[in-house]
Amino acid sequence: MSVHNPDIKRVTTHTIQELKNKGEKISALTAYDYSMARVVDAAGVELILVGDSASNVMAGHETTLPITLDQMIYHASSVVRAVKRALVVVDLPFGSYQGNSSVALQSAIRIMKESGAHAVKMEGGLEIKESIIRILSAGVPVMGHLGLTPQSIYKFGTYAVRAKEQAEAEKLMTDAHMLEELGCFALVLEKIPAKLTKTVSTSLTIPTIGIGAGPDADGQILVIHDLLGINNEFKPRFLRRYADLHQIMTEAIAHYVDDVKANDFPNEKEAY
Ligand code: KIV
Repeated sequence: MSVHNPDIKRVTTHTIQELKNKGEKISALTAYDYSMARVVDAAGVELILVGDSASNVMAGHETTLPITLDQMIYHASSVVRAVKRALVVVDLPFGSYQGNSSVALQSAIRIMKESGAHAVKMEGGLEIKESIIRILSAGVPVMGHLGLTPQSIYKFGTYAVRAKEQAEAEKLMTDAHMLEELGCFALVLEKIPAKLTKTVSTSLTIPTIGIGAGPDADGQILVIHDLLGINNEFKPRFLRRYADLHQIMTEAIAHYVDDVKANDFPNEKEAY
């Protein structure tokens, strides 16, 4: 059973900050569609991210780069229709904010207006400063994302742990402080050494949400398909699987196929 706090009726960016202030860990998960978002929300997760990982787990692309702004809005609006309690954050997809701050603002406004989501997430630090300032100045809450930023996979060349070297760790720390000073309400730290997560999280006032970043982030996030074991091929060290739905679903579907072939489904009670 979930131990979520029933006193929180609707999670806002302020609730997320309060959780850090009182030392309570923040739980976050991705969701991309109505039915899954209903389950995730009812189970007590505080923050639901409509991640551009939809490009991988929903559309089967190798990277997050192909997903479009229209597709993110479609996923986000499906999630928003399901959610009663959690804060819904939506990834700005690759190409919708990096080059030009007025394009970035238009993209964020489309997400907020057309999906009804509560905030956006953007990958990067200094390089996207102008876009962040412009979006924040329109009153749209922004969550940062540093460390492994999958939209830059062709720059990195690999999904290996980031910021192991001092220079990259120092840049990450500088970027994290810049994001806090600009007014971001939280920060995702992806696949960085646990020690660095601890240093960043204790030196920032805003909450950090880790994935593959060790236990000292202020909260944790996973891709829902990974947590549920729907995709049984993805097995990074940081992932804890809480179910093997791939197995359960395969068995259920094979059982259905057998019943149909044996003319056992539908039976008399299942017919009109
Ligand atoms: O797109 C996504 O799912 C993410 C999380 C992994 C943080 O950015």
